[in-house]
Order: sequence, then C-alpha cells, then structure tokens
Amino acid sequence: MAAISIQGLSKTFPGGYRALDDVSFDVGSGEMIALIGASGSGKSTLIRHIAGLVQADRSELCCISVGGEPIQQDGRLTPRAKALRRHIGVIFQQFNLVSRLSVMTNVLVGMLGSIPAWRGTLGLFTRQEKLLAMQALARVGIAEKARARAGTLSGGQQQRAAIARALIQGARVLLADEPIASLDPSSARRVMETLASLNREDGLTVIVSLHQVEYARMYCPRTIALKAGEVVFDGASTDLTAARLREIYGDASEELILPGLADAAPAPAGARAGAAAPAGQAAAAALAVPMRPARHSLEVAASRT
Ligand SMILES: Nc1ncnc2c1ncn2[C@@H]1O[C@H](COP(=O)(O)OP(=O)(O)OP(=O)(O)O)[C@@H](O)[C@H]1O
Ligand SMILES: [Mg+2]
Repeated sequence: MAAISIQGLSKTFPGGYRALDDVSFDVGSGEMIALIGASGSGKSTLIRHIAGLVQADRSELCCISVGGEPIQQDGRLTPRAKALRRHIGVIFQQFNLVSRLSVMTNVLVGMLGSIPAWRGTLGLFTRQEKLLAMQALARVGIAEKARARAGTLSGGQQQRAAIARALIQGARVLLADEPIASLDPSSARRVMETLASLNREDGLTVIVSLHQVEYARMYCPRTIALKAGEVVFDGASTDLTAARLREIYGDASEELILPGLADAAPAPAGARAGAAAPAGQAAAAALAVPMRPARHSLEVAASRT
C-alpha cells in the first residue's frame, strides 16, 4: 500500500495562478523521496496539500491519501483529515520553535494533539510524556540540549529538535520543506543524515524538498522534479545528472546545482534510502558551499550593515 498517493492534484490560487497542474504520484511505505525544483515551482504548495493544510481545486478526480486513507478529496478535507494529520510530521526551513522555551517543552508541543487541551494549556506533561520527549531528542542526537532554551541552539540543532517534535507526535510520514536551506553544509548533512536514519531504521516515509540536486542524489534514491507546478521528472536520483537537469530546466538548472559541482560524480546507483555510501560521503565533503548561496550572501550582507 502506498504511504502517500496523489491523484490529479491541481491548485489555482485566487487571481488565477496555477501553482500545481495535474500532479499524480505514489510514494511507497518506507521510501525517501526528494522534491526538487526552482523557486516557485510548487514544492511548498505540494507539501502543504499532502499535509492537509491547503485544499486542492475542486475536481472529482483529485484525491490525496496518506496511509491508504483520503486526507482530501474533490478539493475538500475529509472527516479523517484531523486524525490523519497526527501521523504526518511537517518540518519547515524556519524550524518553527518557540525560542524562549526549552527544547524539551518545544518537543512536548508535538503531543498537544493527543492530550487533553487543559493539560496542554497549563503545560502539564506526565513523566511518561517527558520520557518520550527525551527519547525523541536522543533519537535525533541532541538529548544533552533538553534543558537549553531553543533559541540558543545552532540552526542544525534546532532543526533536529523540530524533527523530534514530529516524532513525538507519532508521525509515520515526514514532510520536510527545505529543511536544510538555512543551514551551513555540515549542519545540513547532519539533518539529512537524521532524516535518512529515521527512514532507514525506523521505516518512516520521508519527502524532503531541496533546492539543490546534490543532496537528493546523496540521500534519496528517488527524486520528483517540479517545473511550473508540473512533474517533469520522477525516477532514480542518480539519473538526474547535470545534463538531464539542463535538458529539463534549461538555464534555470544552474539554480539547482551547487556551484563547482556540475560535473561531480553522483552517488552510486542503487544507494539505499539514506545510505550515505562512501562515494556519497566524498561528494558530501565537496559540498563546501552553503545551500541557496544567494540567500546566504544576502544574510551575510545584511549582518555586515
Ligand atoms: N497563498 C498563495 N497565493 C497566491 N499564490 C501563491 C500562494 N502560495 C504560493 N503561491 C504561488 O505558487 C507558486 C508556487 O509556490 P511555492 O511556494 O509552492 O514554490 P516553491 O517551489 O516552494 O518555491 P521556493 O523554492 O521559493 O520555496 C509561486 O508562484 C507562488 O507565488
Ligand atoms: Mg518553498
């Protein structure tokens, strides 16, 4: 059974802009898939639809299912949507933690959907719940940060705390929307390795949107590429060579390739979900420039003024 199934998904925003155009694909249980595409291609919009945060255009043919159950159909959330959302962890580029609260409290927020509202409001968590939060933090490798204020953590650690929050929520599907776009290369690798390990060892199904294809090749056996809201490639990440990208995107392909790596050898074919194989690690070492360089240089420029 597919962990995620998308049929005939189109989305037209008010004003008439068609951000997704008849998107259909299935994701098998335990797959780890990269979603790539230039800025504005529809990655975030697609992720938000799978999570049931946005409703698709009305169409009888449109159905999005998670774990075999429709979360939206014919452009409407189903009655099961609320319950299904509990099994879907969404991770964003900006982490979405409350920086003045402890890491532990931020992770416990993931429980709010499954405990009585009054306890959540008062921040009254049981010993067992706190133990689960500690286990989730240990799982992502930052148990020692449990008491620290979230705002004091590095970007990569904050992202791993956000992943722990999704774990404690009971997510079986992780949707990560550019989780490494704000991170330095070594933090980016740690976060991707965390996602890959959850996929490989805990069997979570992962969709991760990425701005550059090298990370897709390194960590995700399969890539779905979007262009102007349409699926333009769905296959083995290793097949998405620089030449293939150029064929699909023309000059815009440069946005999807880290500078200087256009001809880098891809990870070996058949790389298992998240198995950062030796050649992959060599390529990882080569990833010495930040993701989304333009965004970073803007940030650097701003911090200098
Ligand atoms: N709420 C909205 N109202 C109108 N247009 C929107 C809305 N959300 C997204 N869009 C448009 O839909 C298109 C796809 O946006 P989306 O954010 O999904 O792209 P993306 O691939 O995630 O881009 P990026 O790499 O910059 O994050 C864009 O042209 C965007 O302007
Ligand atoms: Mg986006």
